[in-house]
Amino acid sequence: MNIIIVTGASSGMGRETVRQLDKIYTTGIDEFWLIARRRERLEELAATLDHKAHIIDCDLSEEASFEKIKLELEMIKPDVKMLVNASGYGITGDFTESDLNKQLGMIKVNCFALTYMTGIVLPYMPNGARIIQYASSAAFLPQIGFSVYAATKAYVLSFSESLNSELKDRKITVTSVCPGPVDTEFFGIAEENGSSDFAFKKFFMAEEDKVVKQALLDSYHRKPVSVYSLPMKAFRYLSMQVPEEIMLKAMEKIKEWD
Ligand SMILES: NC(=O)c1ccc[n+]([C@@H]2O[C@H](COP(=O)([O-])OP(=O)(O)OC[C@H]3O[C@@H](n4cnc5c(N)ncnc54)[C@H](OP(=O)(O)O)[C@@H]3O)[C@@H](O)[C@H]2O)c1
Repeated sequence: MNIIIVTGASSGMGRETVRQLDKIYTTGIDEFWLIARRRERLEELAATLDHKAHIIDCDLSEEASFEKIKLELEMIKPDVKMLVNASGYGITGDFTESDLNKQLGMIKVNCFALTYMTGIVLPYMPNGARIIQYASSAAFLPQIGFSVYAATKAYVLSFSESLNSELKDRKITVTSVCPGPVDTEFFGIAEENGSSDFAFKKFFMAEEDKVVKQALLDSYHRKPVSVYSLPMKAFRYLSMQVPEEIMLKAMEKIKEWD
């Protein structure tokens, strides 16, 4: 059985990825596996798809969830043609003023879960399969007021770029998606303790369907990194050219003006 697995399928870019892939694959895929905590959201999505969907409602911050997914993989032994790791969240605010458990939770979902999923699914991926990892443009530089989140995404980008090289023999490509701000439920969760110090980011807000379309296209073309929009491409370029010390000083200034 040929399947596609998507985590974070209950909302935002994960859900949009499922919708677009459902239309793209008119043949060759038997089932989508949809993973997130909110079962009713996954059921709503499944009801709209042309493909069959298998729902796995679980909390990816809990290790037991991976045992459950691993068991399903062992029982069904599918060919996983594509894995999309889109689950994740961010919490804005200075580290010392934020809830430590939520900061640690970000490491669990954004890094630990993404790595665990990749590790248990890879044995079921045939040659030529594809992985899409949701990183962020926050991966390009340390971010004042978003420090743990940016660090988790730097991890995702670094891990995924190395993995992409390691998997060359199997012709499996790993594409890290690094968007700037996208209009999803993300900021409602990220700013639950008050609005971000970087309110200007909202000027760069992108639409989820466009970011996902670009990500799928870049994955199809087997690119290691997908960056949507000119301002974010420019940000990436700047972060590679300008010394980090200067970029951080500039960010401190912007934070003072905001
Ligand atoms: N929106 C942005 O501005 C932006 C920019 C760059 C990168 N990103 C990254 O893109 C990815 C998708 O974000 P989004 O914007 O689509 O956000 P979103 O609408 O908030 O979706 C996040 C998804 O992650 C799932 N999730 C969160 N915690 C989970 C947990 N403990 N266990 C299982 N699933 C969990 C949520 O499902 P449940 O709540 O149902 O569990 C939801 O489906 C994330 O990795 C995010 O960091 C977002």
